[in-house]
Amino acid sequence: IFLPIEETDSPYKDRILALPQEKRWLPYNLRNYQGFWEQEGIIPYIIALQNQFKPRFTDVFVASFPKCGTTWLKAIAFSVIHRNKYDFVSHPLLRLNPHDCVNFLELLFCEKDQTYLESLTSPRVLGLHLAYSMLPDSIRSSECKIIYICRDPKDALVSLWHWIKNLQDDRSFLFSEAFEIFCEGRSLAGPIWKHVLEYWNESLKRPNKILFLRYEDMLADPLESVKRVANFVGHPFTKEEEIEGVIDKIVDICSFNKLTGLDVNKKREGGDKLIDINHTFFRKGLAGDWKNHLTMEMAERLDNITRLKLEGSGLNL
Ligand code: A3P
Repeated sequence: IFLPIEETDSPYKDRILALPQEKRWLPYNLRNYQGFWEQEGIIPYIIALQNQFKPRFTDVFVASFPKCGTTWLKAIAFSVIHRNKYDFVSHPLLRLNPHDCVNFLELLFCEKDQTYLESLTSPRVLGLHLAYSMLPDSIRSSECKIIYICRDPKDALVSLWHWIKNLQDDRSFLFSEAFEIFCEGRSLAGPIWKHVLEYWNESLKRPNKILFLRYEDMLADPLESVKRVANFVGHPFTKEEEIEGVIDKIVDICSFNKLTGLDVNKKREGGDKLIDINHTFFRKGLAGDWKNHLTMEMAERLDNITRLKLEGSGLNL
């Protein structure tokens, strides 16, 4: 959670204060920046990233709309790409949350100095919630690669609402309100359909640049998903690795059960809600939990919006 932009001395303050705002998505004040509803306080860092980030052709980005399986995909991308660097007994994922192995680029611009990004050894694996159209040209036009994950919007909404409720003490943000705002496309990082479509369309045009994955497919066949990631980053598994069970070990170390069983990802008793967040990235890890939160009418309404928005794209969610 960032300071309200009014209370900062950001050079972009006036520009941001002039953007359309959405105050119903509690506890954030969202602003429409370049077609997407972003937390007001992060926009200065998005602008800095857009102006300053210099990709390397070896960079790999894990991109997503929030709550679509980013944490899982970060763990997979990290362990696939660095599989010759770490064994599975002293692996970083055993002591660090996946978000600490693969940082969000937006947050690096906010929390760290640029020299930190420069100091990272190649290949860098970085996270992004930014829409494709918001990425700096430097990322879009360079040889670096993007792995995108999407999910049934109904499950993404349920997951997002739970996550926000978990982070704040104010329990007054009702699911019914979140549902309305989400359907209007004015929720955090929304609209989801535009976010997904931009990456989908680009993945069709440039399959070597963007690998488009679905959370539900990964749940159905995690082994195949891990192989697809390895092939895409140009580092396919060798026969020897297959025989040694490296793919299974990666599937296992990134699995929901494994990660939630680790101390680093457990909730601490009496922990500060804004600091003790590792556990909040894991909830049920299933497809279809929307059935416990949406009525049939709500599901039909959201499905209809999704169908209309994706019409003609060849993508079904
Ligand atoms: P649920 O809230 O439906 O359980 P993100 O990582 O983009 O924030 O998305 C969070 C969602 O991914 C949550 O969904 C969480 O439980 C699920 N998730 C996190 N790690 C996972 C894993 N290793 N395997 C499967 N799902 C996982």
